[in-house]
Amino acid sequence: MSSYTITCEELRQSPKEWLITGVAGFIGSNLLETLLKLNQQVVGLDNFSTGFQANLDQVKQAVGDELWQNFTFIVGDICDLETCHRAVINIDFVLHQAALGSVPRSIADPIVTNQSNISGFLNMLVASKEAGIKRFVYAASSSTYGDHPALPKQEDNIGKPLSPYAVTKYVNELYAEVFASTYGTESIGLRYFNVFGQRQDPKGAYAAVIPLWIGQLMSGQGCKINGDGETSRDFCYIDNTVQANILAATTTDSKAVNQVYNVAVGERTTLNQLFTMIRDQLAEFNPDIKQLNANYVDFRKGDVRHSQADISKINALLGYEPTYTMEQGLQETTKWFYASLSSN
Ligand SMILES: NC(=O)c1ccc[n+]([C@@H]2O[C@H](COP(=O)([O-])OP(=O)(O)OC[C@H]3O[C@@H](n4cnc5c(N)ncnc54)[C@H](O)[C@@H]3O)[C@@H](O)[C@H]2O)c1
Repeated sequence: MSSYTITCEELRQSPKEWLITGVAGFIGSNLLETLLKLNQQVVGLDNFSTGFQANLDQVKQAVGDELWQNFTFIVGDICDLETCHRAVINIDFVLHQAALGSVPRSIADPIVTNQSNISGFLNMLVASKEAGIKRFVYAASSSTYGDHPALPKQEDNIGKPLSPYAVTKYVNELYAEVFASTYGTESIGLRYFNVFGQRQDPKGAYAAVIPLWIGQLMSGQGCKINGDGETSRDFCYIDNTVQANILAATTTDSKAVNQVYNVAVGERTTLNQLFTMIRDQLAEFNPDIKQLNANYVDFRKGDVRHSQADISKINALLGYEPTYTMEQGLQETTKWFYASLSSN
């Protein structure tokens, strides 16, 4: 049996109190769904800046009215310290997801990104420390590798940040480390590599590539590829990311705590390959989509050229084993979006 299966069984037997910040967002709402299905008590915090009530409604539908009673929602901003104090009362594990994602958004408005991603993060860390929570797990980012050329990316070898967003995510790691040495706060940083799956927002100027292209192809438009299409990413399906959070929160191995980990699959897919995969998968539902093409435009500022994770550290210390390859995850995702966007 895998570490994850064992951990889920233990949680079912002995439920815990969790706080998910950013619960109305893509990753937060998926964490919520899994934890409620495991019969956990969950508090969620979100200010709806990029999250949606509809995501929470979908989770409610997925888990049913009875398990939904185990969820308490606070509408609020992590930039307000009092709200953070209120959210952490009686919490065992914090899964801190609330932040403004997107490299281009941070280039357009570094101040607003800094507020949520650094000041808000610090508020959550202070509130967690003062409440004496057991573990603070937070969303770090592969953008922290910056201009370091090595592939695959190993946790200890980072370069210079290439965007304000990357700065904020690196500062999170530095704060977490200092809180561990200064106050003994236990934390784990999860450097996510391009997460994708159900409920990721397909709309808006800062949409991630997979939901954006699915949405565009389904509405009969072609897609834009930034650069020559040979830019590559380690795309990671949401279920793998949820697994990493649950393992990080619950590990009892002291060597595994106060660390950062890559969360990915360990594969590399170029944008050209990704476009073809998405188009072919959607064409199984609607053959007209097969005719649609991609246009090439300029490279985007702040983007890392190649990204691929070494996942041996998280495997060795947390027992993480991705249950979905990139292609399997994409199948689930195109199926979900096809059903969801067709019904709108
Ligand atoms: N999706 C990815 O590929 C990826 C990759 C690396 C890191 N991350 C990180 O993972 C986390 C979750 O990302 P996501 O993809 O689910 O994004 P998302 O935008 O769907 O979710 C973020 C949630 O946080 C909320 N939020 C933002 N600022 C807030 C504030 N000040 N107070 C309260 N709530 C606030 C938003 O309303 C939203 O619901 C973020 O920290 C992001 O930086 C994501």
